[in-house]
Amino acid sequence: MPIINRFSDLLPEITAWRHDFHRHPETLYDVHRTAARVAELLGSFGVDEVVTGIGQTGVVGIIHGRTKGSGRVIGLRADMDALPITETTGKPYASTVPGKMHACGHDGHSAMLLGAARYLSETRAFDGTVAVIFQPAEEGGAGGKAMLDDGLMERFGIERIFGLHNLPDLPLGTFAVRPGAFMASADLIEIVVDGVGGHAAWPHTTVDPILVGSTIVNAVQSVVSRSVDPLKAAVVSITQFHAGDTDNVIPQQARLAGTVRTLDPQVRDHVEARLKELVPATAAAYGATATLRYERNYPVVINDTDETAFAAEVAAAIAGPERVGTEAAPMMGAEDFSFMLEARPGAFLFVGNGPGAALHNPGYDFNDEVIPYGCSYWVKLVETALPAQAAA
Ligand code: NI
Repeated sequence: MPIINRFSDLLPEITAWRHDFHRHPETLYDVHRTAARVAELLGSFGVDEVVTGIGQTGVVGIIHGRTKGSGRVIGLRADMDALPITETTGKPYASTVPGKMHACGHDGHSAMLLGAARYLSETRAFDGTVAVIFQPAEEGGAGGKAMLDDGLMERFGIERIFGLHNLPDLPLGTFAVRPGAFMASADLIEIVVDGVGGHAAWPHTTVDPILVGSTIVNAVQSVVSRSVDPLKAAVVSITQFHAGDTDNVIPQQARLAGTVRTLDPQVRDHVEARLKELVPATAAAYGATATLRYERNYPVVINDTDETAFAAEVAAAIAGPERVGTEAAPMMGAEDFSFMLEARPGAFLFVGNGPGAALHNPGYDFNDEVIPYGCSYWVKLVETALPAQAAA
């Protein structure tokens, strides 16, 4: 079964919702307009329940099938937030908000899930319940975690969870996924090196935090090259180094910051532990002190093996088996759908956006031709996961 025909009819309407979101981008948790529009549309479709304010500005719509005998509940998740980027697409529906734009296609993700919600509300050809989830603050604000902390899974009895993201340069009409680790964890590190400042001509009377910091920059690279299995991925990048104000003074302090990415929770634990040993010990060897703050942000996106196989089969039914990559290469980018996948088994897939600017680029735009694929995927997923029962 290819694209569901009904989505050809609904395409202009769904596209109009997408363009409206695109014109009015909102960032992080400040997605009040978008969330209100999502809730209004869900209500207009006649879904059974619309709940707002989960994870601050998240919205959940509940749709019951024609029968509920199985008692099964699945969750479908989209994200609503935009990015602090100035748009350069020149599109007629370009951002009207200076310095903000939908540069990751979350406008399209929300519109596609709304389209699916409309269809499912009309047809209800399934047994059980679907929760359509619209989350805020995917871009660095852990909005998915905020919804979980508000009891998302328990409150609606969600047993399985699925996410879908567009990907530029993946051909239109194709899907990509892999079981296991798919996207990286992303953690923040901050290092403060305290030395003894003094005259640059008398270095022997100082403890130079710039030299110590430089040694630390080199030393932390040994964690990836010597402490992590070469067949496993890890990145430690020091991206900030601040010290000193003039040419004849050795400063008192240096501040460094950076990011750690891994594709394996054990590697993540190991890198964190090694950095915590190495940073103070390196400083101590030079008579300085250094503190490391390691802040865990997004965990690894880990796709459940069975749910991934299931989602790939559904995608194959929509796009054709030859157009679904099931061994896509893992990516070092991060996604906060990882929190939901820690809470429930599920799968995160990419759908091809076709050629064009990369995600987070000011020239990026979601491709409206993706809409029928995304909507059909969601509907087929529900109707396959929760097959309709014959009338009693
Ligand atoms: Ni995104």
